[in-house]
Amino acid sequence: MQQYVVANWKMYLNTKEAHKLSESMSKRMQEAERPLPKLVLCPSFPHLIPVFENIKGTAISLGAQNCHTEKNGPHTGEVSPEQLKDIQAEYVIVGHSERRRHHNESSEEIKAKIEAVIAHGMIPILCIGETIEERRSGKTLKKVQQQLKDETPEHFTPNQLIIAYEPVWSIGTNLTPTEKEIEEVHGAIRYELQQIQPNGNLVPILYGGSVNTKNAAALLKCKCVHGVLVGRHAINADNLWAVVTAAEE
Ligand code: PGA
Repeated sequence: MQQYVVANWKMYLNTKEAHKLSESMSKRMQEAERPLPKLVLCPSFPHLIPVFENIKGTAISLGAQNCHTEKNGPHTGEVSPEQLKDIQAEYVIVGHSERRRHHNESSEEIKAKIEAVIAHGMIPILCIGETIEERRSGKTLKKVQQQLKDETPEHFTPNQLIIAYEPVWSIGTNLTPTEKEIEEVHGAIRYELQQIQPNGNLVPILYGGSVNTKNAAALLKCKCVHGVLVGRHAINADNLWAVVTAAEE
């Protein structure tokens, strides 16, 4: 299965930095001598168009970090899936734990966003994962399976959706589950997806949370891990490139 490296730039970088970073990735990707994972750059909204100018015509794709559920309308400060599609975004991160926590996004809203992104011909990257309390009390698998039940659309094909398993306690902390723990959760996600939809087992499942230049190779080798979603290590060209090239052929 195709592997992915999704770079979540969050609310980092100014225009010049986003320009330089995307230009550097574009150049390195074009000069690469072996097949590499699909790289998806997810800058903040003001940088989507300038970043696209640097990556168009290359194997790198554009992604957004969030979007509204509606096509257009009186929603001050929001960005619609139609607007994202219009500027050539191909992916949208949905349900990141920072949005669930700080913007009170509910499963209902997340599901509506997933449906809106798919309806506009883009691929949602649905982020799910447990808190540290849930992991400590043995509720990890139940939590991610419930999120999948509540937040995936009624109908989808495997190429319309990506799941990112991101334990909340691992994001920004330099803590990661063991490889065995990741494989266990990814296996459970795969199983649940197959219960929800025929061929659901073919949906790519990424791991995210404190991915860095040192652990990327091992994470990308784990069973049922089809790529990584990277935060802090994605805002520096050398670090991001080290993660992209950590994947074996
Ligand atoms: P991190 O962030 O790599 O900085 O832990 C990952 C994420 O929030 O998706």
